[in-house]
Amino acid sequence: MLIQDHVLLHQWHPVLLSRDLTEVPRSVEVLGEKLVVFRTSKGVHAFKDLCIHRGVPLSLGKIVEDQIVCPYHGWTYNSCGTCTRIPSMPKERAIPSKAKTVTYSCAEEFGFIWVCIGEPNLTNPTIGDGTFDDPSYSTVIMGPYEINAAGPRLIENFLDVSHLMYVHEGLLGDSEYSEISDYQVHQVNGTLVTDEIEVYQPDPDGRGHGVNSLYTYKVFNPLCCSFTKKIIGSDDYFDLYLIVLPVNEQQSNAFMMMERNYALNDPDKIFIDFQDLLIEQDKVIVENQKPELLPLDLQAELHLKCDRLSIAYRKMLQDKGLSFGTA
Ligand code: FES
Ligand code: CO
Repeated sequence: MLIQDHVLLHQWHPVLLSRDLTEVPRSVEVLGEKLVVFRTSKGVHAFKDLCIHRGVPLSLGKIVEDQIVCPYHGWTYNSCGTCTRIPSMPKERAIPSKAKTVTYSCAEEFGFIWVCIGEPNLTNPTIGDGTFDDPSYSTVIMGPYEINAAGPRLIENFLDVSHLMYVHEGLLGDSEYSEISDYQVHQVNGTLVTDEIEVYQPDPDGRGHGVNSLYTYKVFNPLCCSFTKKIIGSDDYFDLYLIVLPVNEQQSNAFMMMERNYALNDPDKIFIDFQDLLIEQDKVIVENQKPELLPLDLQAELHLKCDRLSIAYRKMLQDKGLSFGTA
């Protein structure tokens, strides 16, 4: 599976929030591969989560003087993955040159820890077109939301405007106003971008005020998308980015980045709590959809005009030859 899927293999994937990686090594899974991620004074590092001596996960070990130490017999690996100490071996013997573990590209950017298990197709991780460096905006990072569904299922759910009136009724939509006006999907430099889509929202941020909102959706790559939401009659708007970690074909971790131009000093918790609620509502749906893997054959399901974006997304996956998480 890994070898076949060149798109996801060479892409950066978020694995943890930066603040969740302390001095304790963490185990993570990317495309079915178990890794240990850890922090030293030199930066962040990702290795195969397996000591080459007797197969114990290095994530059970600890960091001592910037090196990771296996908990079983104390073999110690430096940040390049080279074994520098074998405590049970006589000191005069040289450490075998084969004593090296497998290392992967690891980076810290935008408040996330990122890993690429292939050859990174970009030097640095990106979150779509976001720069997140304008001090007149407030940003919040959210996740990981652990979901038992394939990554493309999560992305398609995020892009699905007509579920707002049902799954998030009373908050993001009202079933009395569920008709979706026609919109088009455009390709702009490899990104899918929709026209603005108007939605009536009874309580879109948990504060109890109904508004009409305009959504513009974007899809940057198979597992990263966003929408911009403008409130009609106000200058308020925000961007919400979804980046999905493909843990394996059945499990995904969703990470989000929100950037807003209003309520700049409100505590992050307000936005995180609200998003937690929305994700709980979506989780019931995506964890139960059949087939589990997103069908790319457009004849396999029925589509409406309002599903244009889902269709464009499925075509994008087909064009890129994505096999992971699709059927
Ligand atoms: Fe890791 Fe022996 S298994 S040191
Ligand atoms: Co939803």
